[in-house]
Amino acid sequence: MGSRPEFGESHIIGSNAPDWFHKINWQDIPQYPLSKDALFCLEYMRDVEGHTPWYKRHLMGHVAMKDPNITDFLGLWEFQELSHDIALSRFVEGYRLRDINPQNPPAFDVHDPLQLSSEKSRLERIKQQREELSFWQKHGWMASILIASITKEAFLAAYGTIGAINELTTKTGYVQLSKKAKHPVLTEILDNIIPDESNHYARYKEIAEASLTKNPKAKAFTRFAAKHYWSPVGEGFQPSPRTNRVVAYIFGDEEDRALAERINNQIAEFPGLENFTGIIDQVEKAKKAA
Ligand SMILES: [Fe+2]
Ligand SMILES: [Fe+2]
Repeated sequence: MGSRPEFGESHIIGSNAPDWFHKINWQDIPQYPLSKDALFCLEYMRDVEGHTPWYKRHLMGHVAMKDPNITDFLGLWEFQELSHDIALSRFVEGYRLRDINPQNPPAFDVHDPLQLSSEKSRLERIKQQREELSFWQKHGWMASILIASITKEAFLAAYGTIGAINELTTKTGYVQLSKKAKHPVLTEILDNIIPDESNHYARYKEIAEASLTKNPKAKAFTRFAAKHYWSPVGEGFQPSPRTNRVVAYIFGDEEDRALAERINNQIAEFPGLENFTGIIDQVEKAKKAA
């Protein structure tokens, strides 16, 4: 047996890249500055995008996987999250060219293999991050399968609800990042990612509500899970101070409070989650800690 082949970007996404990849002005990335906070936030979000396939393991073995509506959605979802990861990784790589000469940075040519080492470094980064996961993060999915086999519909309701909260906060995070960072190429990229995140939110919401409305036990289980097990997307696999800094950047201004309340209230409209305050609580916690 030989060693595993090294897959390059062309094997993973290449001609399968979403159409919008071809319309981005990648070459202009190094021409515009970003604040340190914006770059920090962007790298965090890129890392979270690379980690998303890991979450699917919790649903493996659940009876819901018999439903092609769910498996079709998860297939599309995984591909779109991968394309987000690749787009943000490529952006960071291009932006790093500013380090060569901030006053007159070279253009970023994504077709030049000497400039585009991002795919190799992306794969290495993700491998490294998965190596560094805690025991629970690596193996918690086994407990999830056991719990899912006992709680059935309730587990699906909680999975869908936490997925919906993550997608809504991610989408809002990208809207805020685009507004605060004011980088034209990043905005082009995020304008294409944001509709995907909106769609993911809508689909997870449908999955959650279908179970929540027909099963009273699912409401109690989901309320408990959302209260005790939801934390901002990426926290846990990323150290908390990193998450706090990102949440404080996204929601830290006075006018952002109303936005945080609005998306919290969207989740509180889910059946059984009337008293949900998780998003507001996490924003307050992050602002205090940051
Ligand atoms: Fe994404
Ligand atoms: Fe998403």
